[in-house]
Amino acid sequence: MLSINKITESPEETISLANSLAGSFLDGGIYGFVGDLASGKTTFIKGLLSGLDFSGVANSPTFTLINEYNAKCRVVHMDCYRESDINRWIQLGILEYFNSNDLILIEWPDIIKPILPDRIKYIKFSNIDKNKRRIETI
Ligand SMILES: Nc1ncnc2c1ncn2[C@@H]1O[C@H](COP(=O)(O)OP(=O)(O)O)[C@@H](O)[C@H]1O
Ligand SMILES: [Mg+2]
Repeated sequence: MLSINKITESPEETISLANSLAGSFLDGGIYGFVGDLASGKTTFIKGLLSGLDFSGVANSPTFTLINEYNAKCRVVHMDCYRESDINRWIQLGILEYFNSNDLILIEWPDIIKPILPDRIKYIKFSNIDKNKRRIETI
């Protein structure tokens, strides 16, 4: 089972940490990324995508809500921060994504807590200081 408890001191370090862990995400699963704004959630996910051999540009789905990638495995990246209406997520097909074998990465998962599957695992990001972030499985 994936276990992380690391402090990174730059965005590049967060990317290379995610890169090195990418193999552990190959089998899919649903991961919730929790933590403050600018704590490195999207940065980590970009690193994961590059570690999974996705070579294009990975943007934050803050406004698009859901981004899909064909990397070494199929990756679905969601950001719930700006959409708290659970019905809207259901309309977007979130339950079908949960029933798929895709790797599902969700920022701000607590916003859609009532519909999250039990099998979700959480990775927590904390701001320690300007460039220091703690990244840990919880
Ligand atoms: N150690 C670090 N890891 C990740 N990001 C960092 C780090 N230090 C500073 N940063 C900065 O913090 C911000 C993180 O942004 P982002 O990954 O979008 O956060 P989130 O998705 O959690 O809101 C970026 O501006 C990045 O340059
Ligand atoms: Mg983000």
